[in-house]
Amino acid sequence: MPIDISKLPSQLVNDMQAALPVFWGNPERSNEAVTQTVVDGRAISLADVSAAQARFERFAPLLARLFPELQPSHGRIESALLGAPDMQRALGMSAECGSMWIKADHSLPVAGSIKARGGIHEVLEFAESLALEHGLVSAESDYGVLADASARALFGRYQVAVGSTGNLGLSIGVMASALGFRAAVHMSADAKEWKKARLRSRGVEVVEHTGDYASAVAAGRREADADPYCYFVDDERSLSLMLGYSAAALHLRDQFDAAGVRVDAAHPLFVYLPCGVGGAPAGIAFGLRQLYGPHVHAFFAEPTQSPCFLVEMLSPGASVYDIGLTNRTEADGLAVPQASELAAQAMRPILDGVFTVADDTLFADLHRVRETEGLRIEPSAAAGFSGPRMLTGTEAGRAWLRQHELDRVLPHATHLVWTTGGLFVPPEEYARFAERGAALAG
Ligand SMILES: Cc1ncc(COP(=O)(O)O)c(C=O)c1O
Repeated sequence: MPIDISKLPSQLVNDMQAALPVFWGNPERSNEAVTQTVVDGRAISLADVSAAQARFERFAPLLARLFPELQPSHGRIESALLGAPDMQRALGMSAECGSMWIKADHSLPVAGSIKARGGIHEVLEFAESLALEHGLVSAESDYGVLADASARALFGRYQVAVGSTGNLGLSIGVMASALGFRAAVHMSADAKEWKKARLRSRGVEVVEHTGDYASAVAAGRREADADPYCYFVDDERSLSLMLGYSAAALHLRDQFDAAGVRVDAAHPLFVYLPCGVGGAPAGIAFGLRQLYGPHVHAFFAEPTQSPCFLVEMLSPGASVYDIGLTNRTEADGLAVPQASELAAQAMRPILDGVFTVADDTLFADLHRVRETEGLRIEPSAAAGFSGPRMLTGTEAGRAWLRQHELDRVLPHATHLVWTTGGLFVPPEEYARFAERGAALAG
């Protein structure tokens, strides 16, 4: 779509076109209560977030049966909240700026990334709707029965399909095939070989595309449209995915309470979320906003070559190609040319801002977090670490803090960096990432 660049903020766009890291504050962000938002014609609120959480709870006994790694958590797919004082020091951030924490979704069981939250939720919602429709379960049932032959025979009649840069495909493919569905994942050219191999080893059909993420999604959608027994998970438009991500907020609140972390006007919470198409970070930002109101400040992190969410906020409907960027990045999960309009619509009054990160910085931070906190993450998952640096260490970030009168309460702030993937990266591949990062971090 042709866009008129002359109408956009010129310095910002010049820097984006030069692939320099930028910081952008969202002028539409509201300080008022945003207790519901209309997404794709449907109003969603905290009740929908809680309903998604309740669905995960109903399925927990079944998931504990299907995945031995979930037995210790009784079928819950959750990650730790970790203090990160050593990483904070390594990033040169003083205690005067507040304290850094990490939400460790890089270690989420079953799918190894944040995409497990939304992807698994949508597969469960589809399975639940079929099971209810065919009388296999009722509202009071133990969903463990869905591992039985009759349920598997029903699910086996359907295919679940998705288009993905990799991690969403992993979560959908693994969960769908574990329940007995046929599963097909349409992968973009950026998708890593090991992700395809992992899916194939689980019996998932991998359809390779030579184009980018948007064309893989479009191809998957087309195929699914032609088959009434195919259910397509649409990463660009799915409300179920978004609500699956949003449920993370409820668990995080319990973790903050247990750790004695307060969130209020005097103790703001800054959350830094890696962003691809925007569904995962938007879902989480929406959920947190329902719990903490305007005291949560959500920032999305994007690669300098793929800032699709920022482009969408500046010029709805535009892609990163429209401003001359390549969408080429080692952060495969974030290599998305065009953002989800649904996510962008939900974020207009909620999002605080977007910042971009050069690939070299991703690798340097991937190395630093291994050295300081012993965490093994993938490049996409390192994007959030630039957030505190951009907010507290650049003129644009500091001006934004002053403008919102947050500079005064900064020493009591919590900076939560969401590390979004990495658990299943093969050791040889991780060794290459870490080596590159070590050379860059110096
Ligand atoms: C590791 C990782 N982080 C973040 C994201 C961003 O999620 P979304 O595309 O929903 O914005 C992805 C997407 O695949 C990912 O793989």
